[in-house]
Amino acid sequence: MWVLLQSFVLIAFCFHSATTFPKGCYHAEENGYKTIRCSNAQLVEIPKDIPNDTRKLFLDFNHITFLPHDAFRNLPLLLELDLSHNAITRMEIGAFRGLLENLHSLDLSSNKLVSVNKDVFSNLKAKVNLSSNPWLCDCKLQELIGKVDLMVGSSGGIVCDSSAQEEHVGKPFLQLITDMDFCSVYKRTTDIAMLVTMFGWFAMVISYLVYYVRQNQEDARRHLEYLKSLPSKQRKSEESSTISTVV
Ligand SMILES: *[C@@H]1O[C@H](CO)[C@@H](O)[C@H](O)[C@H]1NC(C)=O
Ligand SMILES: *[C@@H]1O[C@H](CO)[C@@H](O)[C@H](O)[C@H]1NC(C)=O
Repeated sequence: MWVLLQSFVLIAFCFHSATTFPKGCYHAEENGYKTIRCSNAQLVEIPKDIPNDTRKLFLDFNHITFLPHDAFRNLPLLLELDLSHNAITRMEIGAFRGLLENLHSLDLSSNKLVSVNKDVFSNLKAKVNLSSNPWLCDCKLQELIGKVDLMVGSSGGIVCDSSAQEEHVGKPFLQLITDMDFCSVYKRTTDIAMLVTMFGWFAMVISYLVYYVRQNQEDARRHLEYLKSLPSKQRKSEESSTISTVV
């Protein structure tokens, strides 16, 4: 009877912890900080039942592909978030909303990020590791780098996997942007478009003016010829008035 009761309690306890705690995760106290480790837990998305007083969260070495908005909304005290070694390709704007003030370290290294909107990180104060992702090196990445506070020593790991210019592939992006501006290429083409449009308008105005002047000259000439064909008496007075109008 006692054994039966004991095993019942044990089963109930296991069931309880299974329902209130994410599968494959375990809880630890590290340097006095409540820590949840879900490393290598076959996760395909962010677990929904992380305790809201967690300070450090490890989700590395899983199969997470997508971060929806408000993915970490219930973790206002989180200091450290490790999402490295996943397959993240896409992060929605607002994915890190709710983590703004406390978070000081965000690891997104070794994922599948190609292109990320800079607004995903708006208001985030954390140091971010963006190394070892298949980055497309373009103006969008330059804007992102301008907005994000990179982890010290992690900048060399942002390497171009693709670029409009073949010679950039395999090069560290931060090294490239010391001597070129990926956004000015775009600015230059819009400047040229503006110049061409302005020139087009200018040419239209000029050709209209030329046409107008020519048309008037033609009219004046025809009028003079008409006057010449009139009897001379009337012609004199008419001619002087025409000349004054022409002049
Ligand atoms: C966590 O959730 C509980 C219950 O909803 C709430 O009382 C508590 O204030 C929350 N803690 C934090 C740090 O938000
Ligand atoms: C950033 O991530 C890379 C790849 O995972 C790792 O080697 C590096 O140590 C990280 N840098 C920092 C500062 O944590």
